[in-house]
Amino acid sequence: MSVWAILVAAGRGERLGLDRPKAFAKLGDEPLLAEPLRRLDGCPWVDGIVLVAPPDWEEPAILVAEEEGCAKVQACVTGGETRSDSVRAGLAEVPADALVVLVHDAARPLVSDDVVERVLAPLSEGWDGVVPGLPVGDTLKRVGSDGGVEETVPRDGMWAVQTPQAFAADALRRAQTDDAEATDCAGLVEAAGGRVKVVEGDPRLLKVTSEADLEKIAAWR
Ligand code: CTP
Ligand code: MG
Repeated sequence: MSVWAILVAAGRGERLGLDRPKAFAKLGDEPLLAEPLRRLDGCPWVDGIVLVAPPDWEEPAILVAEEEGCAKVQACVTGGETRSDSVRAGLAEVPADALVVLVHDAARPLVSDDVVERVLAPLSEGWDGVVPGLPVGDTLKRVGSDGGVEETVPRDGMWAVQTPQAFAADALRRAQTDDAEATDCAGLVEAAGGRVKVVEGDPRLLKVTSEADLEKIAAWR
């Protein structure tokens, strides 16, 4: 079975608010991108990697991959306006004979072999997609634009979903039509009628959104 990873790193990082894209924010003394790239490259389940870089940052992204000695990086492409556009750009570089595609956010640097193994395993049971998640612990409320609570949403069965997300390659290709949009790839596969399973995620897969997240993740490394 050949497994290809698409590492999406093309976001602007507006909420982090630096003078550079989030993938090039400093995690310790390295660019953030180095950590997930090194981890995926070292993961025994991953055969090839497509790196999706921000516009005008393709060369620095390739340089990070070279400095890390990431031999599995087969292509580096320019991302798009939205995350879905960036995934589409990456998917176009995945070879037609790939059986499984793993999509991972560079903004979640601490990806581990264990979580990759957990999302890959159920694909052989016929699931179209498998995503890591954590059960929601806090009470959920839908809040209007004036701050007023509109409803309390039952928390039972609610999970917060992370990446890496694993897909049967043909299911992801079918779902990723030209204008399909969702906040994660699994949403597209679900909308296309695919069966998606949630497995145990990892709190360390926290997504870097703010400076405080960077400090937390640097301490967890
Ligand atoms: N991403 C991408 N292309 C985009 C938007 C996002 O490749 N057009 C990637 C980001 O690089 C990140 C992941 O998708 O690894 C999750 O996105 P998010 O955390 O929202 O990152 P940014 O969009 O960069 O941050 P912000 O929303 O604060 O601008
Ligand atoms: Mg974003």
